[in-house]
Amino acid sequence: ALAAAARCRVELIGRTPLDDGTGGYHEPAHATDLPALRAALAARGGLSIAEIEREAGRVLARREIAATLAEVHDAGGRAGYRALDVRDAEAVQQAVKETYATYGRIDGVVHAAGVIEDRLLAEKDPVSFERVYGTKVDGARALLSALRRLPQLPAFTVMFGSVAAVYGNRGQADYAAANDALARLGRLWRSDTGSRTVTVHWGPWAPVGAHGGMVGPELGREYARRGIELIDPEEGVLALLRELAWGEPETDEVVLTASGR
Ligand SMILES: NC(=O)c1ccc[n+]([C@@H]2O[C@H](COP(=O)([O-])OP(=O)(O)OC[C@H]3O[C@@H](n4cnc5c(N)ncnc54)[C@H](OP(=O)(O)O)[C@@H]3O)[C@@H](O)[C@H]2O)c1
Repeated sequence: ALAAAARCRVELIGRTPLDDGTGGYHEPAHATDLPALRAALAARGGLSIAEIEREAGRVLARREIAATLAEVHDAGGRAGYRALDVRDAEAVQQAVKETYATYGRIDGVVHAAGVIEDRLLAEKDPVSFERVYGTKVDGARALLSALRRLPQLPAFTVMFGSVAAVYGNRGQADYAAANDALARLGRLWRSDTGSRTVTVHWGPWAPVGAHGGMVGPELGREYARRGIELIDPEEGVLALLRELAWGEPETDEVVLTASGR
């Protein structure tokens, strides 16, 4: 949507390496969804169930990145991708510095990295809590500290939060805390630097095409049972663009949902 609106260049970051690192490896191209991929990988033999699951996830992640790069291009923008962990402050600093040096500007930043590992609080393992919390919070800290060193701050920074931070959600104490802390970091950053920063606490999005997102079929059914509508992805991105174009620059947090809850 940003590429279509502004014909801009988009630098994407994720942990997944685009190159699978295996040289002559041939991906099961005919297998287009997770069950088909699992079956194709199992048929090759020699992989444990856990390895099949990991490899299938990697294949889907690489395909999603390729699809996103193609979509940005088709929308009239240009796109690049770097594999790094946003919790790695040094790697983030390097990426931001290089991007600024190459293009002479960074106009906008969207921190949308996130993972969920839902469990009731009594069953949460601290390492898992740290992964969920750190991806949002350490990631934001790394990003903001890298931006602080630039000669010029971006015109806008968007943090992807969640309604879980606003209303809570069963099994998501870590994720709710992470998104709440993320919004606070955004607020402090705006008051400290004066740079436009907004946290969008999204309701659940409907999956589309290669972009399954966090709401899998099971979670989708649970939302339907509770009468919670999913955000149409086209509407979602337009809502964000509207917020950036017309929202009050002093607004630190907004809640955007399809069904008002
Ligand atoms: N989908 C929803 O309904 C929904 C609702 C509310 C809020 N949100 C928020 O929206 C954002 C995007 O969600 P989504 O549904 O699109 O989920 P997704 O498909 O799982 O995307 C999450 C993205 O974050 C990246 N990522 C995760 N950990 C990372 C790390 N440590 N370093 C760098 N990149 C990392 C992932 O790439 P790699 O795996 O390659 O690292 C992936 O591209 C998240 O922040 C989520 O909390 C989503």
